[in-house]
Amino acid sequence: MENQILAVPYLIAGVLFILSLGGLSRQETASRGNMFGMIGMLIAIVATMFHTDVNLADMQALQLVAAAVVSGALIGGLLASRVVMTGMPQLVAILHSFVGLSAVLVGLATYLAPHQGEPLAEMPLLVHHVEIWLGVAIGAITFTGSVVAWAKLRGTIGGKPLMLPARHVINAVMVVSIFAMMVPFMQAHGTSGITLLLAMTVVACFLGIHLVMAIGGADMPVVVSLLNSYSGWSAAAAGFMLENDLLIVVGALVGSSGAILSLIMCRAMNRSILSVIFGGFGSAPAKKSKSEGEAKGIDDVNTADAAEVGQMALDSKSVIIVPGYGMAVARAQHLVCEFVSVLREKGVEVRFAIHPVAGRLPGHMNVLLAEAGVPYDIVMEMDELNEDCPNTDLVLVIGANDIVNPGAETDASSPIYGMPVIQAWKARNVVVLKRSLGAGYAGVGNPLFFNENTQMLFGDAKVSVQAMLSEVS
Ligand code: TAP
Repeated sequence: MENQILAVPYLIAGVLFILSLGGLSRQETASRGNMFGMIGMLIAIVATMFHTDVNLADMQALQLVAAAVVSGALIGGLLASRVVMTGMPQLVAILHSFVGLSAVLVGLATYLAPHQGEPLAEMPLLVHHVEIWLGVAIGAITFTGSVVAWAKLRGTIGGKPLMLPARHVINAVMVVSIFAMMVPFMQAHGTSGITLLLAMTVVACFLGIHLVMAIGGADMPVVVSLLNSYSGWSAAAAGFMLENDLLIVVGALVGSSGAILSLIMCRAMNRSILSVIFGGFGSAPAKKSKSEGEAKGIDDVNTADAAEVGQMALDSKSVIIVPGYGMAVARAQHLVCEFVSVLREKGVEVRFAIHPVAGRLPGHMNVLLAEAGVPYDIVMEMDELNEDCPNTDLVLVIGANDIVNPGAETDASSPIYGMPVIQAWKARNVVVLKRSLGAGYAGVGNPLFFNENTQMLFGDAKVSVQAMLSEVS
């Protein structure tokens, strides 16, 4: 197919990818968004097979493409079907590393292709060399950074940030040398050109490792989202190298949406994006916050059993449920959904308040609740329900901790000070379902547990909700 004609299916695929992103931004339209993305990708792959660079008569090349597509689809399908929701960030991180690696390989292959290693003759070749250089650099940083993020998230290497002395200087030297080597590369050709390109790839690989090693476990989900953005830019760079418009468009979409998501996450956690990129959070033990200093213990909390909590819910007119990471760990969402439908049948108004960083990845709680069949119209954002808390009879906090910590508003020494939280403590009654008084992700104590109007229901969330369900049914 002539490459101009190819522009038509590429345009359709590009529009489908934009519709896909739009669809994925809302729960109700997310499956449709996924479907648009899949159709767009199918059109893109089939259309690319008709690119003038692809010789359909070459059986050997076709076999190679078929082997890559089939094995990729099998491995991807297997991984996606096996992954548990709490393991999603690791999967996403390793997938980003593939994008980075492919950008590196495309860059090297483009340079090694006939006529590419020739000395600089005209302007477009200069531009092409800059594309190769930047594409390989971004790809190498994305590749090794994502592998380190994957290893940290799955616990293969510790989550503690690596704080080398003068680490900012080390980073700066690596960045400067990447750009400095580009100058002789422009004039080089043949062996000297590829040697410079490989040397720069090694430096960029070290930069990726060092940047992500310096980031603490607490910031890792934001880093995964940032690496998502980098992987988009590497794909766009590969698109420039291959002169493939669709790859440029898709790369730019992924790059910009990843950057926007990282900013949203940082804002929701009250962290600055620069402090995440340059790392170090969590290296020193967190300053003792007032809440910890109070040194209160198990004797200072009110406790309730599941039957009492079930009865309290039945006696309430309005209930707000705040789900958190513990609900995901306990896999209690299906029972929570059943519990809610029984309460609603008995005339209790039940709504879910979703904090933007509840759980461990963006939209974590929304996905779990949708999977369990909770109606979308009772799942609301934190801001929509915060002002209703004072008029609510019961707030049920299921496996959440940091996102309902009043210290975020009142304790300037807390590491989460300034993070917007769900004001559960303003409700008439609060019940917290968790296994202990242990801290959440940020590692700080939670004064909510010791309030007069709070009762603790200790135990695994699934077991507790099951018992509450038996009571209300
Ligand atoms: P957390 O503050 O991490 O608290 C979760 C609580 O669940 C823990 O305190 C734990 O207490 C409890 N838990 C664990 N397993 C349980 C089980 N089987 N049954 C019952 N409870 C269980 O979670 P959160 O409130 O959802 O807040 C999320 C945190 O992650 C925030 O600090 C946020 O900044 C951070 N974070 C989120 C994201 C995204 S994008 N979502 C990104 C980066 C960071 P026990 O051990 O006592 O049971």
